[in-house]
Order: sequence, then structure tokens, then C-alpha cells
Amino acid sequence: MKKNLIRIAKDTNFFLKKFIKKQKRTELISAMEYGLFSGGKKIRSKILLDIGRIFKIEYKTLIVIGAAVECIHAYSLIHDDLPCMDDDKLRRGKPSTHIKFGVSTAVLAGNSLLTMAFEILTSSDLKTKEKNKVNLVKKLSESAGHLGIAGGQYLDLSFEKKKISKNKIIDMEIKKTGKLFSFCCVAPAIIKNKNNKDIKIFENIGANIGLLFQIADDLIDFKGSSKVAGKITGKDKKKGKATLISLLGYQNAIKYSYKIKFKIINDLSKYGSKTSNLNETLDYILKRNK
Ligand code: IPE
Ligand code: IPE
Ligand code: MG
Ligand code: MG
Ligand code: MG
Repeated sequence: MKKNLIRIAKDTNFFLKKFIKKQKRTELISAMEYGLFSGGKKIRSKILLDIGRIFKIEYKTLIVIGAAVECIHAYSLIHDDLPCMDDDKLRRGKPSTHIKFGVSTAVLAGNSLLTMAFEILTSSDLKTKEKNKVNLVKKLSESAGHLGIAGGQYLDLSFEKKKISKNKIIDMEIKKTGKLFSFCCVAPAIIKNKNNKDIKIFENIGANIGLLFQIADDLIDFKGSSKVAGKITGKDKKKGKATLISLLGYQNAIKYSYKIKFKIINDLSKYGSKTSNLNETLDYILKRNK
């Protein structure tokens, strides 16, 4: 699994570096590259590859789509760390982008990474029909906007220091984290022209994988070490974040995560042994400590 992730990270970063190199150099590029290449597990790309395998899609195609996803992910982390958001000074064991480059540069580098995702999907580097590209752009923009990351981040901040119900916390976590995972699960189905019913099934699987991922992230914040995680832990409690841990307690949040994992595996069961890679990724998501 680790080796696999390293290979994906290497191939994705290679593509992104080449893509950026083809563009005219600007003053923002250093901050963009810092947000993109300062580590990062590339777990969303791994999910995309796992699902892509079920649909027999070419590796290179999936790496290009994954690169677009990683741009959006990197942007969301740069903005998530800003003083007006979570106000975090450490990311991936290094100073956050705004600490290194200043707040205004971090905001603009984040914006540029967000739009670069769509430059990638509409570029000639992605070898698929124009119609598929339009559908990919549509889904990815939905997952980043007010129904996805931005909307979820809004809820995350507005829930601070309040008692929030389980359903509302789950809705917030699916938006801020789950929707991008949904895109990763749906993109292969879009390329293979699957019908709406299949798209819905994979959208739902992705949302649950994202929820699982966010619960694991919250567990790391609760009990993990800052040194290993590369970010300051114990902050959710300090900030009064509404999480399933703050609502249900540590043990019950773990129990709930196993329930979600079981649900995902059950939803995938009709795809047989082709899902073995994905099952391995789910185990990694739950057991990780960074
Ligand atoms: C952290 O994401 C933010 C969340 C959505 C929980 P990752 O844990 O995937 O971050 P990197 O890219 O590996 O640093
Ligand atoms: C971030 O959630 C979700 C995003 C969409 C960026 P967190 O705020 O918990 O992520 P970390 O712990 O800072 O990485
Ligand atoms: Mg946050
Ligand atoms: Mg944060
Ligand atoms: Mg967190």
C-alpha cells in the first residue's frame, strides 16, 4: 500500500510539474508549488485508481484526473489553514503556505490551484471525449462549490462551539470532505458512460469513503501525535469543532467508522474481487496515523 501511494505521488507530481512548466512563470507559482508538492498522501488519487480499475480505465488517464483533484485538495488545505479559517501554522510538517508566503499570496495561490484543476481537465493531456470532459468539469465544480468543499467549510466554521446534531455533522463532513471523494468514485463511471443509477451508487460510495476519511482525520486530531501527523493535533477540541468525537465520544466514533466501512464494502460487493485494492485502501484510511 505504502509503495503504491509513493508511486502514485511520484507520477502525479511528475505530471503536475510538467503541466506547470509549460505555462509562463509568475510570482504565484512558488506558493502554488509549495502547497502542491510539500508532501501529501495522494489518497484521493488512490481511490480514483482503485475505482478506475473496476471500470478498466487506463492508468495515465486516471493520473491526469487525479492531478486535477490534488490541485483542488491542495487549494482547500491552503485556505483551511488561513487565520480566518482554522488558523493553523503547520501543515505536512512544514510552515503552512500563508506562514511561508503571507496571507494574500496564500489566498491567490489557492484560487489559482482551484482553477488549474479545470485547466487540466480541459487540456489535451486528458485523453477522453469532449463530452466526458464537460461532465467531469461539471461534477468537479459541484464538488468544490457551495454544495461541496466551500459549503462544508462554511458549516464547519459556523458549527464551532455549538451543540450540533449527528445528522448535521455528517452532512457537513460529507460536504467538506466527502464530495471530492465522490468525484473520484464517479469520474471512472462518467468516462465509461454509465447511467444515472450507477453514477448515484458511486457518488454515495464516495461520500461514505470521504466521511470515513474525515472521521479518521478527527480521530488523529483527538489522539494522534503532531510530529507524526505533521499538523498540530488537539486543535478541534480547542476550537470547539463539532465532530462525531465531540458528540459521541472517542470509542463510539470508532464504532461508527466501522459501521460506515461495512456499508461501503457491502455497496461494493456486487463488483466482486475487482474491489480488493479498494478494500485495502479503506483499511489504510482507518488505521493511518497521519
Ligand atoms: C487532510 O487531507 C484534510 C482532510 C480533508 C481531512 P489529507 O490527510 O489527505 O492531506 P494530505 O494531502 O495527505 O496532507
Ligand atoms: C479539512 O478538515 C477539510 C477540508 C476540506 C480542507 P480539517 O480542518 O479537519 O483538516 P486538517 O485537520 O486541518 O487537515
Ligand atoms: Mg478545517
Ligand atoms: Mg484544518
Ligand atoms: Mg482535522
